Parts: sequence; C-alpha cells; structure tokens
Amino acid sequence: KTNNFLRHVESMKLMPSGAGHISHLNAVILGDSLATEEDDFVLPSHDFASQANVQSPEQYLKMYKRSIEDPAGFWSEIAAEFYWKQKWGHKVCDENFDVRKGNIKIEWFKGGITNICYNCLDRNIEAGLGDKVAIYWEGNEPDLDGTLTYIQLLHQVCQLANYLKDNGVKKGDAVIIYLPMLMELPIAMLACARIGAVHSVVFAGFSAESLAQRIIDCKPKVVITCNAVKRGLKVLYLKDIVDAAIKDSAQNGVSIDKCLVYGNSLATKREDTKWKDGRDIWWQDVVPQYPTSCLVEWVDAEDPLFLLYTSGSTGKPKGVLHTTGGYMVYTATTFKYAFDYKQSDIYWCTADCGWITGHSYVTYGPMLNGASVIVYEGAPNYPDAGRCWDIVDKYKVTIFYTAPTLVRSLMRDGDDFVTRYSRKSLRVLGSVGEPINPSAWRWFYNVVGDSRCPISDTWWQTETGGFMITPLPGAWPQKPGSATFPFFGVQPVIVDENGVEIEGECSGYLCVKKSWPGAFRTLYGDHERYETTYFKAFAGYYFSGDGCSRDKDGYHWLTGRVDDVINVSGHRIGTAEVESALVSHPKCAEAAVVGVEHAVKGQGIYAFVTMVDGVQYSEELRKELVLTVRKQIGAFAAPDKIHWAPGLPKTRSGKIMRRILRKIASRQLDELGDTSTLADPNVVNQLIELADS
Ligand code: PRX
Repeated sequence: KTNNFLRHVESMKLMPSGAGHISHLNAVILGDSLATEEDDFVLPSHDFASQANVQSPEQYLKMYKRSIEDPAGFWSEIAAEFYWKQKWGHKVCDENFDVRKGNIKIEWFKGGITNICYNCLDRNIEAGLGDKVAIYWEGNEPDLDGTLTYIQLLHQVCQLANYLKDNGVKKGDAVIIYLPMLMELPIAMLACARIGAVHSVVFAGFSAESLAQRIIDCKPKVVITCNAVKRGLKVLYLKDIVDAAIKDSAQNGVSIDKCLVYGNSLATKREDTKWKDGRDIWWQDVVPQYPTSCLVEWVDAEDPLFLLYTSGSTGKPKGVLHTTGGYMVYTATTFKYAFDYKQSDIYWCTADCGWITGHSYVTYGPMLNGASVIVYEGAPNYPDAGRCWDIVDKYKVTIFYTAPTLVRSLMRDGDDFVTRYSRKSLRVLGSVGEPINPSAWRWFYNVVGDSRCPISDTWWQTETGGFMITPLPGAWPQKPGSATFPFFGVQPVIVDENGVEIEGECSGYLCVKKSWPGAFRTLYGDHERYETTYFKAFAGYYFSGDGCSRDKDGYHWLTGRVDDVINVSGHRIGTAEVESALVSHPKCAEAAVVGVEHAVKGQGIYAFVTMVDGVQYSEELRKELVLTVRKQIGAFAAPDKIHWAPGLPKTRSGKIMRRILRKIASRQLDELGDTSTLADPNVVNQLIELADS
C-alpha cells in the first residue's frame, strides 16, 4: 500500500545558501506500511500529514528558509501573537556570537515589555479558554486526581504571587522551588514569573548538599517545598532535606528567613514534620487567604525568568540563565510545531519540572498554547508497568512525550502491559534526553503507537531552552533513531577538531551558528565560564558538547556527549561531580569516573577508585562509597559499578587516560590501544585483574 505523500525532494535547491547541512533528501515511498527493520524511512500517514501544522518537506523548507534569511521578520511575526505591554525596540535580535569580536551577547526583543505568566494565563482566559482544563493532576495512587481550569490556575497563581510579594519578594529576587510533581510546582513557577521573581527549581531527587550548593549560589528570598511525597511505595521526606540544606547554607553565610511548606498529608502527617517557628510556614495556612487577583509585574524581554542548574565538566554546577521574551516565543513555537499541537489535544510530558524539559514542555510551552497538561506525581511503573497507558486511556492523552530510558524499561517489561490498554487517543509521540536507539524507537512506534503516531525525537539542552533538531511530525519521513532536521531559525553545523565546518555526509562536533530566541544568556554570576565553555572551543559558534553525524540524506544522528558529562537515564551528570563526592570519603584517595553502556539507562556510572594505603576492599566499603555519592548528589547519580584501582593509568605528566578506563569499563580489552606512554603501564594489568572483584 503506497501513497503519494512524497516522491523525491531535492531539498538542496530549496535551501538558502550557507545552510548546506541538508544535502538532499531522497525519500522513498512507503505509504502507510508498518516500519520494519529493513526500512530506511517511516512516513507519516496521509491522514496525519494532511491535517498537520506543517504538511510537507516543501512547506518546512519554505518556512525554514525564511527563518534563516529573515530571522527578525520570522520571529517578530510570531511574537506579535503574544501580549506585549510595549513593543520591542528597533532590533529584534542583537547578538555577538564570536568571542574574537568581544563579549558574547544575545538579546531578543530587547525593550519589549511583557510577562510570561500573563501570556500563559490571562491572555488565554481572555481568548475564551478560562474553563478549559489547564492541569490534569494524577497522583501516585491511581484513584487520586484533580484538575484546575485556566481560571482556577490563575487564581491560585495570584494567591501565591501575593503571598510572595507580601513577604518581600521583588522583581529580580531569586526563589528556590524544591517540590515534587504536585500542581503547586507549576503554580509556584508561574507565581514567580508573575511578579518578576527569578525561580530556580531544584529537582526533588537532589540531596541536601546539592540543594545547599544552589541556595548558596543564588541566595533566594524564599524556599518553597513540601513536607513529603510518595513515589511508588517510597516516601521521601523533602522537608528534612531542606532543613539540612538551609543549615548548611547558613554555615556558608546564606541564611533563609522564609520556608513555605506545602502540607502533603497523603505522604506524611503535618504533626510529624519538624518545624522551625518563624521561618517555616504551611502553604495551606497562608496562601488561600490572599486575593485571587494580582497585578502583573511587567518586565523587559531580556529580564531573567529563571535559573536552572546543570552539570558541566567541572564539579561546580552551572546556573543556566534564561530570560523572558525570547524564551517565551521559542518554547511556544517549538511546542506547537514539533508536536503538531491542536487545541483539542491532551498533552502529557513525563518529565519532572526539576529539569529543563519540565520548564519548557510541562509548564511554559504548553500553557502559552493554552494546552491541557497532565502533571503526574508518581513513578511511571507504579503500581505496574501499565501505569502510563492507564493514564493515557484515562485522560485520552493525544501527545505523549518521554525519555528513551523509560521506553527501554517498559519494553523490557513486555508488550502485554501496553496492549491491554486501548491507546487509541494517541496521535504524536515524543522522545528526549538521549539518543533513542532504533530498536527502542521501533517498539515505541509499533507497539505503543500502533504504527500510527509519528515520533518527535527532540534534540536540545538546558542551555538551548527549546528544541533545536526535531522532526515536524507531518512534514518529514523519519528514520528511527535520527532527530532529523533543525527547527526554524536554527543553523546546526558539524565541525572537525579544528573548528572547520564539514559539509555533506560526516561526523564531528555539533555546533550552532547564530543565536535563536530561546538560547541562554549567561551562566549566573560567571559570564567568563559561559564564554569559555560554550563559545571558545570553536570560535564563532555555540558548542553543544555533543557529537553528531549527518547522513547522505542530511539527517542528523546524535552520538552522545564528547565532554566529561555522562547521560544517565536522560539526566546529565558531570564525572567530576561524582569523583569529588567519592574522594570526600575519608578512605578514598582518588577516583576516576567514566560512562559505560547500560541497557536501560543509556549510560551507567562506572567508578575506578583508589583507596588510601592499607585499606582493605570490602562489600561494606563499596556500599559506603555509593552512599556517599547518593548523599552528596542524589540517588540518580549513584555509581553502578565500583572498580577497585590500586593505581590509575596516567601519563607521565599525571593526566588520567580516560580512554583506557572507558575500554576497561566496557571490557573492550583488545582495544586498549597504545599504553606505552603511561607513567606505569603495569597499572592496566592490575585493573584488568580486579575487573570482576
Ligand atoms: O547529549 C544530549 C542529550 O542531553 C544533553 C542535554 O541534557 P540536558 O541539558 O539535561 O537536557 C535534557 C533535555 C533536553 C544533550 O547535550 N540529549 C537530549 N536530547 C537528545 C539528546 N541526545 C540525543 N537525542 C536527543 N533527542
């Protein structure tokens, strides 16, 4: 069975000069047939394509061409769909992307006065969406749920905004939010945005020490948290973690006067929560007393919206700073096109708001579009591996966005958990966080989506604010495992080790030429690190830290991080952070951490540790080391393997040869390469002997 969706597109002819990253596309006709191992391409069905926001490669290319040749015109037309108290100045975009010409600067819509909370809520309510459900909240327990319409959400946001204002939070002040996936999490983000405060959400899986590090860095006026949360069968006592973090921060000169605590009675009783009078306040005791309307703080497009800490290749997390106007326009637009969003959609992104995906595609992107969003509190496999599809059927979810690690873990649990649910409502699937391997892609496509739903494999980063390389589901034939083509306005380039752009079929380092509206503007308090990390490696470009290859048809294939960052279950973890946690154990002299392939998590954490002289290896010691990392960073960063190392392979100048460690970790012992330059080549044999001890 075939259709005439596409015969042959010579996209090169349609591409603007300088955007040679799409060589040509030879699409084959597959029609509505099932994807099989032999197929190169998977096409959207004719029915899907004909209703899509972008219906063909030609339409994409036309829009893309315009976005590159006339970015100011392209983006200001879209920006005009939002509410601006005052229009931006004469320049839509002002940038210096080249360190050789001075400091890096990115500005979009500067001089424009707006508010993202107003655009998410008030604007949509005025457009008639007041009674539409904004949030469907699904609790950890299957019989627990709740909803908020756009009007109800606005009221709750205003009450919290008024509380914050009343407690001295002003425009530009930081607020730390350490909450699980309760409705109160997006409410808190939007309340901060409404009054121009800068939120910094910390994923509620981070330890007290990590939270303290972030508190010390951004010095928040208020910390917002809850007493406890239940995830699966486990209860996590978040308030205890916050108490420890506040104590730690105070010892480092940053004191917190106000801690607003949402009482989550389903996880633990209020009276069981440790309390510091004067500092700690129950959310439910104060917030509902405030008025349900709150004047908006109008801010400049370039005023900060939020800070989100992420891992880099050194131990100290980086405070990625996003501003208001460009981020607003970019997240809304990427959401609309990459998921082919329609007003009738019910959208579920399984990410936590503690990560960038939850910022851009649980809260801002969808709500700017007036979407109905599922916020799920629990674990995706609780009470069993069918929970996701139970939720999909319950709410008639149409767009389901998740991470490859979850796809692989559900795939391992077997098709039965999926097929016992209808899933008929689904029409678009999405993937994010790490490369999706073709077999997981096909399972997601064939089993979850019944070979009916295109998959948007969205490549992007905390730093990019929104999608950078992604299929537009109605436009492109897909290749399982490829993130396909750039979003509007994005010019990805692949460079070699000398920073020279490579054309055509190639592999190299993924960079971006020119800014896009959603780009981060700086690292909080450290513009120099911003320039060094992202703009100096390959002068003239933004360097993503990822490797990428481009095939003969111009499709992009992400190959993973090329720096000292590991991607575990889609969570970014710096090897240096794990190493510094390990060496904080009094018996650990040195540690070197590498990523190793892991069937479910994508990458696992493999730690080589050298103990101080005389220490005996033991199972107990191994557990202590793992616990040290859990305590210092969080459970998600716990090493999968501790490899005892009497010594580490080092060059004569003392540099650890991680290449060799990676090969030992993955047991590719015949690929160790040249070890003769090591200060002590014997170390390698010792490590191999101890590999399975
Ligand atoms: O290596 C890439 C990988 O995740 C990194 C960004 O991590 P983070 O800032 O935590 O943001 C995750 C959610 C956007 C990237 O440098 N990555 C993310 N999405 C993909 C991906 N790798 C391949 N394919 C993707 N779709």
